[in-house]
Amino acid sequence: MILLAGSANSILAQSGAATTGSTSTAAMDKYISSLMAKMTLDEKIGQLNLPSSGDITTGQANSSDIAKKIAEGKVGGLFNIKSVAKIREVQTIAVEKSRLKIPLIFGMDVIHGYETVFPIPLGLSCSWDMQEVERSARIAATEASADGICWTFSPMVDIARDPRWGRIAEGNGEDPYLGSQVAKAMVKGYQQDLSGNTDIMACVKHFALYGAAEAGRDYNTTDMSYTRMFNEYLPPYKAAVDAGVGSIMASFNDVNGIPATANKFLQTDVLRTRWGFKGFDVTDYTGINEMIPHGLGDLQTVSALALKAGIDMDMVGEGFLTTLKKSLQEGKVTMAEIDAACRLVLEAKYKLGLFTDPYKYCDEKRAATEIFTAANRMEARKIASDCFVLLKNQGNVLPLKRTGTIALIGPLADARENMAGTWSVAADNSKSVALLQGLKDVAGGDVRIVYSQGSNLDADTLFEQRAEAFGKTLRQDPRPEADIIRDAVNTAAGADVIVAALGESAEMTGESSSRSNIEIPQTQQDLLKALLKTGKPVVLVLFTGRPLAIKWENDEVPAILDVWFGGTEAGHAIADVLFGDTNPSGKLTTTWPQNVGQIPLYYNHMNTGRPLPEGAWFQKFRSNYLDVSNDPVYPFGYGLSYTHFTYSDLTLSSSLKGNQPLTATVTITNDGAKDGSEVVQLYIRQLVGSITRPVKELKGFQKIALKAGESRKVMFTITPQDLKFYNNELKYDWEPGDFVIMTGGNSRDVLSAKVNWTR
Ligand code: BGC
Repeated sequence: MILLAGSANSILAQSGAATTGSTSTAAMDKYISSLMAKMTLDEKIGQLNLPSSGDITTGQANSSDIAKKIAEGKVGGLFNIKSVAKIREVQTIAVEKSRLKIPLIFGMDVIHGYETVFPIPLGLSCSWDMQEVERSARIAATEASADGICWTFSPMVDIARDPRWGRIAEGNGEDPYLGSQVAKAMVKGYQQDLSGNTDIMACVKHFALYGAAEAGRDYNTTDMSYTRMFNEYLPPYKAAVDAGVGSIMASFNDVNGIPATANKFLQTDVLRTRWGFKGFDVTDYTGINEMIPHGLGDLQTVSALALKAGIDMDMVGEGFLTTLKKSLQEGKVTMAEIDAACRLVLEAKYKLGLFTDPYKYCDEKRAATEIFTAANRMEARKIASDCFVLLKNQGNVLPLKRTGTIALIGPLADARENMAGTWSVAADNSKSVALLQGLKDVAGGDVRIVYSQGSNLDADTLFEQRAEAFGKTLRQDPRPEADIIRDAVNTAAGADVIVAALGESAEMTGESSSRSNIEIPQTQQDLLKALLKTGKPVVLVLFTGRPLAIKWENDEVPAILDVWFGGTEAGHAIADVLFGDTNPSGKLTTTWPQNVGQIPLYYNHMNTGRPLPEGAWFQKFRSNYLDVSNDPVYPFGYGLSYTHFTYSDLTLSSSLKGNQPLTATVTITNDGAKDGSEVVQLYIRQLVGSITRPVKELKGFQKIALKAGESRKVMFTITPQDLKFYNNELKYDWEPGDFVIMTGGNSRDVLSAKVNWTR
């Protein structure tokens, strides 16, 4: 690390310094203009440079000579640096050694929690509880800001319909409406009021269409029609912009022939002209340099292209730092372009209040008392238990009884380091609660718990490379598979029920972790078969960062609980649900296919000219497969409860004209024996349009708690605003005609009614 001895003098006395973190535009403009008037070209270009400190590894290349560059005014911000002490030292260099004493911003990937880790974002989205989503971001902001961080590279809102893509774990699933709600809630959670020191600036990413990588292979090309782009992929980014997100990150991928980092259409025409975005635009890690292998030219050329496209800050690659001056001299970029980028970076610092107090986020007392607190962990436990999705529960195997013997078997049963999943770079994952520990803590005295690893994660050699980069988090038993399984079967011999903790390891999900086979690895399937053969009831607790192809498991295993990677308190939260202290209420935000050949499989698809009738398998000259039905294993929006909900009496207000809103009312009855929560979902279909329209589109949802036996009427209001879409001319409007309104507890099982809406 870069350290500098010496006291930390505040720059409060610096002439003309802003006096508050106020965002009053006129005052900010005046302040920044006067500062920029003093800046040299090199200092302006320096503000556009964002090195990684190397404390944490999140990419290939690393930055060098950082302290020297900061003192020379060649750095605008720093990321991957952890602790108040280190951040204070670096900030001291900026505000005491550099000529103009401009403070740095400090970023980090605070994605689903800081040291207190919440479920991976895909899991979090399955709570369908926007207050919980917002609260998780709020806690993350409080902890990160207590540790010196003022900027997070979150929320990640890339729509993804391909579970081969490892980064599907980091987003909110396949739906643009739900994705937009989550985007809004996260931005609100991170940055409500930047004038204090408990909020941090958010950075929505990865702009754009990163989740549509061909074949689900990370960093791969995307090529997409504009109507699909605007209707299905862009809404969550726009929702973040509308919510006031302070910054945005360009994606690595090629979009319709131009990498996003040089894509002026995206970074300026859409983002600034259409959407009015006022924050700054940062590349992803060496995103500019990667345009050399993309095939757009040498570093000078691609750096100029990025600036001209609308990029303001260059992460790690130093293309801006090393080439922009030359490009200006050669007339390849303009001073106005450099000024505009520099101004936006400085504005972010102003909005964060760093010109008033560069050490605003460096409060050692906060760091000691506000991070990884018991209260935050309690919240993480509660939120995690609301994210798990009960996929199957035949014969009410769950909840587990608090008597007898439970055999906990599987490579993920006692795997603390795995619980946080992908992107928990600030956390000490050894402090997470494993399922074995959680079960013991929650079970109570009358339950005996026996444990055996049962299998390795997968064949020895797989994932070695990934483990090299990110650390191996699972024990590898060197014995032959049959011996390990035999031990597990013996362990389970005296048990009343078997809980099999299987699935993916954290290393199998997230960035650069695409899979061409999305099944549970073979060694674990072999174990599961052996456990089922014992004839005892088996509960599959499924750890995963993506929808998996588990048709066989769904056919054979009586109970399946999808627990994603639940974060710091995963073990407790899973045990809370397994024993029924929390009734599961999560619903899937992605479609789970039968096999990889069906991908992409998503609920809001077009009808085609030769649709297959619902419930049918194969018909000649229809849009289907010979060897598998069109159905998923689990549809979007699906998830069970320990109680049961019935939908009845869908009624719509009549005679719809113009802006008059439509109300849809439906009665939900908890006709099971337990209290529980249900996510009531509303879908619409426009039957005839100027372009083809999806067979279903989510347009509303409400999560309601119902006592056993209780009924409630739920009302949705739909306005023409909700019917709007981008037509072939990219005009955003609605079209009158017939609509089907549907409501239900998932996207497949719905009550429906038709309405005609006139202008
Ligand atoms: C990822 C980003 C992340 C960045 C900084 C990149 O590799 O794509 O999501 O924010 O690294 O760590």
